[in-house]
Amino acid sequence: MIETPFNYTGSKFKLLEQLLPEFDKTKSTFVDVFTGGGSVYTNVLDKYKSVIVNDIITDLIGIHKGLLDSDNIISKTKSLCPGKGNPVGFGTLRDNYNGNPSPEGLWALMLSCTNNMMRFNQKFKFNQTYGDRGFSDATQRKVNNFTEHIRKFKDNLIYLSTQFENIDIQSDMMIYLDPPYGRIKNDDGTIGKKQISEAGYNSFWLKDDDVKLYEFIKKIDSIGASFMVSGVLYHDGKTCWMLDKLIADGFKYKEIKYDYNKVSRKGNKETTEIIITNYVEKN
Ligand SMILES: C[S@@+](CC[C@H](N)C(=O)[O-])C[C@H]1O[C@@H](n2cnc3c(N)ncnc32)[C@H](O)[C@@H]1O
Repeated sequence: MIETPFNYTGSKFKLLEQLLPEFDKTKSTFVDVFTGGGSVYTNVLDKYKSVIVNDIITDLIGIHKGLLDSDNIISKTKSLCPGKGNPVGFGTLRDNYNGNPSPEGLWALMLSCTNNMMRFNQKFKFNQTYGDRGFSDATQRKVNNFTEHIRKFKDNLIYLSTQFENIDIQSDMMIYLDPPYGRIKNDDGTIGKKQISEAGYNSFWLKDDDVKLYEFIKKIDSIGASFMVSGVLYHDGKTCWMLDKLIADGFKYKEIKYDYNKVSRKGNKETTEIIITNYVEKN
């Protein structure tokens, strides 16, 4: 399994062993709709003729694509990292990024900020604090492994940065969806508040996105493409509206084992992570 160099919040890396056997490999194109740190697309490159990599954060896609093309982004990012013991340099980097965003600026911020956890405010300005860290030897090792692997599949990779609902669905696609935590189901079945999550990219998840995502998944199914959606069905006694609705529509689901309690803010909150799929054949 190849680990990507991003320490991305919500990464599926630890769940890959359970997810990979479940994808429909009869399709020729794999689509990672919510790519994030990219642990999923990276590990299916040998299984599909083409792989589409998408995320709403354009500079994040710029990092993935930049690493495919050459080592330029690595040297640019290293030169931007303020290093340890340099909070003032971090502040300057962040101000510069917010005024003039670039993939290398975002990557330098991700590497330098608290818990490597990128966070944006409602105006989509990066606002995470300094983490007294930078481009480490461990990062370099992960970068080397990652680039060596993805560059073997250079001609098969396609990069997009668009809202999920703009993706052009074709029947020969295996579409994987790992969206931010969705809204909960109210007692009367209506759509409620956002599930609690600390992930910074939640600011990109807008009010109607759960409904749009539900409709997008139904469209995938009606076109004859395959989908797998991952998510948290129950968290802290609350049910996810969108996943619950897909199950009520008759799509099959499977529980995925992962102990989120270890990272939960208040601890001891029971969480059920699942995948929902619309296909029978897998190989
Ligand atoms: C749970 S993370 C994906 C994690 C990823 N599977 C991994 O292993 O690293 C969800 C991603 O969805 C992206 N996102 C949020 N809103 C989006 C939208 N409307 N369209 C596409 N991507 C979106 C976020 O930027 C974030 O990277």
